[in-house]
Amino acid sequence: MLRGENLSFRYGKNQPWLFQNLNIEVAPGEIVGLSGASGFGKTTLGKILAGYIAPRSGIVTVNGQPLPKRGYSPVQLIFQNPELSVNPRWRIEKILHEGQPPEQELLKALSIHSNWLTRWPHELSGGELQRIAVARSLNPFTRYLIADEMTAMLDANTQALIWQAVTAYTRQHKLGLLVVSHEAALLKRLGGRIIDLSAKNRGFSPILPH
Ligand SMILES: Nc1ncnc2c1ncn2[C@@H]1O[C@H](COP(=O)(O)OP(=O)(O)OP(=O)(O)O)[C@@H](O)[C@H]1O
Ligand SMILES: [Mg+2]
Repeated sequence: MLRGENLSFRYGKNQPWLFQNLNIEVAPGEIVGLSGASGFGKTTLGKILAGYIAPRSGIVTVNGQPLPKRGYSPVQLIFQNPELSVNPRWRIEKILHEGQPPEQELLKALSIHSNWLTRWPHELSGGELQRIAVARSLNPFTRYLIADEMTAMLDANTQALIWQAVTAYTRQHKLGLLVVSHEAALLKRLGGRIIDLSAKNRGFSPILPH
């Protein structure tokens, strides 16, 4: 179980609390949707659950153990923009093999071509590079995947290809999947619980346009 307990966070002393005493759980093999208006702290929560930033209070555990402080995290995060998540000075092959190499079957499901391996990141399209980022994040050490607007910038066909590959992989390997998205239809289609971050556990309400 991936568990965030009593999580509170604000970026600075003079900043508002994004959430206070928030509890969230994702079980192995479970798909959980996370929605909520822009600026409510979904990406921030994802970063805390993956161990990128520390909560002001509360704790994140996997199977009762705090996240490891160094080495490969069992909780992997994918962002909307793959250009920001890969080293532009590494060839695709090196990016893919940074951790344990992904399974051949996954590369095939993501339609990753072997002639991309010797290219630089800027020599792939956004959708192609996102598929590389997805493949890199799904390796034998990964137990949970947090997909933060993972396909928001892509066309319908590429979206479908990526979600098909990811859900098949997470089902087969019993990975927990937390999907952050503005698209209610996508969250519904994926199934599972949907958490609305705007509805609870919050310390303030931002001013939103009517
Ligand atoms: N590094 C930072 N320093 C200060 N404030 C930040 C930082 N990162 C984000 N914020 C602020 O924290 C709030 C939550 O940001 P976050 O990116 O978590 O929102 P979000 O729910 O993911 O929004 P979106 O749906 O637009 O992606 C925003 O008001 C943002 O301006
Ligand atoms: Mg966000």
